[in-house]
Formats: sequence, structure tokens, C-alpha cells
Amino acid sequence: MKKNPTDWEQHYQNKDTPWDKGLAAPALTAFLKAKQILYGRILVPGCGLGHDVRELSAAGGKDTEVIGLDLSPTAMEQANAFTKVGREQFVAGDYFDLPEKLLGSFDWIWEHTCFCAIDQDMREEYVKASASALKTGGKLLAVFYLNPYDEEHPPGEGPPHGCTREELEERFGLYFKITEHWQPDKSYPGREGKELMMILQKK
Ligand SMILES: C[S@@+](CC[C@H](N)C(=O)[O-])C[C@H]1O[C@@H](n2cnc3c(N)ncnc32)[C@H](O)[C@@H]1O
Repeated sequence: MKKNPTDWEQHYQNKDTPWDKGLAAPALTAFLKAKQILYGRILVPGCGLGHDVRELSAAGGKDTEVIGLDLSPTAMEQANAFTKVGREQFVAGDYFDLPEKLLGSFDWIWEHTCFCAIDQDMREEYVKASASALKTGGKLLAVFYLNPYDEEHPPGEGPPHGCTREELEERFGLYFKITEHWQPDKSYPGREGKELMMILQKK
């Protein structure tokens, strides 16, 4: 099994980043407006250029410290070049090999297009990495891209790789209790009805 088969760094160096829509995930923006603000320490794995990181940081203000993590050093350089909106930081690193000091240190994780980007063989590791990053009782807020398939991205040729609600319940259920799930009202154009939001609490 190859841990990180896609050369994400090359994508960022070549500016070949079709997933980057230039703004935070609409489902996150809607959640922060309508539901609640996330406070404390928040981790955003696979944050890319950091639009979600800044959205969370601006919403949480001084009571929030958001760490954006990405495999690609170029993505982290570009994310750092944006004007700071709060106490956000960007770290180049591998979610499957988190630095010791980050383990067990987060109140929240925000998942958006990292789970669908990793190899499907690494999903068990993703669940373990998420559980190990959170404090006991910490929560994972996620928008899962259930169905990313179209003519350009047929099943089996990802990333992105799709998933089902049943698979998520089974995989995450080992370490997390699913407290809420719903279909988001807001999505990027083309993703409407293809995403599922979940709040999962570490057991
Ligand atoms: C499809 S992109 C999404 C980026 C960002 N979430 C967005 O929506 O713009 C997937 C991101 O996950 C990062 N990534 C993939 N595997 C990773 C890993 N093991 N650890 C950290 N980041 C990873 C990639 O470098 C890439 O930036």
C-alpha cells in the first residue's frame, strides 16, 4: 500500500488545483452562520490554500486557534501569503504522521475534501489519525463528498474517491459517536446533493 500516491506538491507547483474554488466550503460558511462557531483549537487536515482555515479563524476570533495542515509545502507557502484574519497557522506535514505535539491537542477537526483525496486503502488510518489528534470528547465536523463522480472522474479513477453514509458510520463508529448528520443546503456549484455533513464525537 502506498501511503500518499498522488503527488500533491506537483499539483500546487503546476497550479493544477481544480478543487480550489477560491472560497471556503459553502457548507462550512452556512454552518458557522446558522448553527454555531467552533472555539478552541481546530485542525484542518488537507487544507490546501486555507480558505476554510481563514473562515474558521475569522468566525472564532481570539478564542480560536486554527492549524491548517497540508502535505504540500507550496500550498502552505501560498496559504501563508494571504492576509491573516486571526490566529491561524499553516503547517506542512502528513496527517498520517502527525508531530507529537499536535497529538491529543484539538477540540475540533474540520474535514473537507481530504478524506475523498486520500487513497481508499488509507481510510482506516484517516479515522485513527483523526481520533489521535483530538482531545477526549473532541469533535470532528465534516462535509463528506459522497459522490464526486462525473464523466471526467469516473469511479475507480480517483481521487476524488466517493463513499457512502454506511461506510462512514462503520469506519468512524469504531472511535466516534455520530451525533448529527444532514445534507447541507449550500454547496459549490455542481456538488449540490452530493455531500453529507456529520458531527462525530470522539469516544
Ligand atoms: C482535493 S485537495 C483539497 C484541498 C482543500 N481542502 C480544498 O478544498 O481546497 C486535497 C488536499 O489534501 C492534501 N493531502 C492529501 N493527503 C494528505 C495527507 N496525508 N496529509 C496532509 N494533507 C494531505 C493535499 O495536499 C491537498 O491539498
